[in-house]
Amino acid sequence: MLNIAVLVSGGGTNLQALIDAQHRGEISGGKITLVLSGKADAFALHRAEKAGIPTEVLLRKSFSAQEEYDRSLLEILSRYEIDLVVLAGFMTIISNHVVRHYENKIINVHPALIPSFCGEGFYGLKVHEAALEKGVKVTGATVHFVNEVCDGGPIILQKAVEVLPGDTPEILQRRVMEQAEWKLLPKAVSLFCEGRIKVADGRATIKED
Ligand code: GAR
Repeated sequence: MLNIAVLVSGGGTNLQALIDAQHRGEISGGKITLVLSGKADAFALHRAEKAGIPTEVLLRKSFSAQEEYDRSLLEILSRYEIDLVVLAGFMTIISNHVVRHYENKIINVHPALIPSFCGEGFYGLKVHEAALEKGVKVTGATVHFVNEVCDGGPIILQKAVEVLPGDTPEILQRRVMEQAEWKLLPKAVSLFCEGRIKVADGRATIKED
């Protein structure tokens, strides 16, 4: 059974999707054993507490140097014997040092079809604002491994979602979450825990049952 840490900063709806999938028995090879928040008042912390999952709060601003923050993050992850790190709306940048410690063991959900609307500055509602600004007719979500390039790691799963006339960033964000993110993230975590994701030449492939 793999130990899963979910890193959050906000509302935690993706965390909730993972908790619900776990309760339905859909993540058979792993268990969420830690929720770590980058913000002290993240609503996601309440979701974790309600589900009986241990929580930690780690603020980037509490550390002057990146190395000190990294050391503290790695110490927490190793104390909980974490095998898989899931970034579910985590808004603190993960350094290359940490990425190297957990190579192809950090999964991120991004609310667009990478390589569209991704990279530095594209997070949360900003992604949907940019999609609407461009006038794309289809957007979606991507779950990928985290590597040293922002939103550039091997893509595990993607799902397209329609953009509809009259959409606001908030309406589009909600549709992308409901139709894509909340399904893709638990699925990718489950596949990982079953050892069914292989990475070669910078690309991820899923092994059939
Ligand atoms: C989600 O839409 C997630 O894809 C996005 O932040 C939101 C968090 O919502 N992440 C990024 O933009 C990362 N670049 P949640 O806290 O309700 O899960």
